[in-house]
Amino acid sequence: MSRTRTSDVLVIGGGIIGLVTAWRAAGRGFTTTVVDPEPGGGAAQVAAGMLAAVTELHYGEQTLLGLNLASARRYPDFAAELTEVTGHDLGYRRCGTLAVALDADDRAHLRELHALQRQSGLDSEWLSGRECRRLEPMLAPGVRGGLRVDGDHQIDPRRLARALVAACERAGVVFHQAWAERFDVVRERAAGVTTADGTELRAGQVVLAAGSLSGRLAGVPDDVLPPVRPVKGQVLRLTVPKRYAPFLSRTVRAVVRGSQVYLVPRESGELVVGATSEELGWDTTVTAGGVYELLRDAHELVPGITELPLTETRAGLRPGSPDNAPLLGPTELEGLLLATGHYRNGVLLTPVTGDAMAHVLTTGELPEEARPFTPRRFSAAALTEHPA
Ligand code: GLY
Repeated sequence: MSRTRTSDVLVIGGGIIGLVTAWRAAGRGFTTTVVDPEPGGGAAQVAAGMLAAVTELHYGEQTLLGLNLASARRYPDFAAELTEVTGHDLGYRRCGTLAVALDADDRAHLRELHALQRQSGLDSEWLSGRECRRLEPMLAPGVRGGLRVDGDHQIDPRRLARALVAACERAGVVFHQAWAERFDVVRERAAGVTTADGTELRAGQVVLAAGSLSGRLAGVPDDVLPPVRPVKGQVLRLTVPKRYAPFLSRTVRAVVRGSQVYLVPRESGELVVGATSEELGWDTTVTAGGVYELLRDAHELVPGITELPLTETRAGLRPGSPDNAPLLGPTELEGLLLATGHYRNGVLLTPVTGDAMAHVLTTGELPEEARPFTPRRFSAAALTEHPA
């Protein structure tokens, strides 16, 4: 016989996006359940945690930039609140970022990024190679120039995930630790899910926040299934022995032969090197080629990296969407909302996603800043009106 459990809000997925949604929903007085076999897992276990609204700006993504900046502005208060509620240190570090160029092509690319940043009203300063090395003496002598962005910071996503689990627990969120096996629709509205352990979880509002898995939950009607796909990222973790500290004092990144590489130094001594970007479906194998390319590119930037112990290699799946922006808020199916498709910016977008989802769960409307990210932009009607 199946068991049924009911709450006001059911969040499918206990990654950082599902957790922040649940925490904020509970804060608005909703009884809230999260269904996930391993709350606090997901892409945050692999992510480097760059809060890089400015250095991750790309052409055609100015609308997303607005949301990224809104979330970056909230980070100090968000981190302080989460630490106050849970006592957890989140590894939030206001260290800034240096994006550097290794050859003439990289330099031209970075100059264009700088122009785009300035057109968008963002703070970033062009530095010569010598000025870059003065800031970060471990950089290779061949560095040809760079952009200093003092507003792009970092947080430790694993700590963030642990803190969000603790905050949810304190707020009375119920965790149902099982796979959501099937999404259930009853009388043409979202009813909840049936889990692998046979429990029927029911709720008035159901939020699908399952990262890259959001696009393949059985039972979600085709016309509201989010167009989200997995984009693999391989990431390395190294350790900086105390005698080498400070190895780097801020995040250092570059585009080497067309691939992004970044080095994120934590106060704990961990140095995160990421990331590949691979369209390989659900594959999460760490490959010799992936590790080789990351180390090769990181070594070109910071030759001393080969002295450091390599402590972890891991691959995760970014939830990619067709326009690289998240899908937030109500769908055409009554009772079903989305909080997914955050792609490269899930950690950065966590505070604003929590606020937007709490707002829409309470009022039925997305707040102004989140309206461009309605899932309805991908509905058949919207795509016929504005074909790509
Ligand atoms: N935001 C960094 C990445 O997705 O690799």
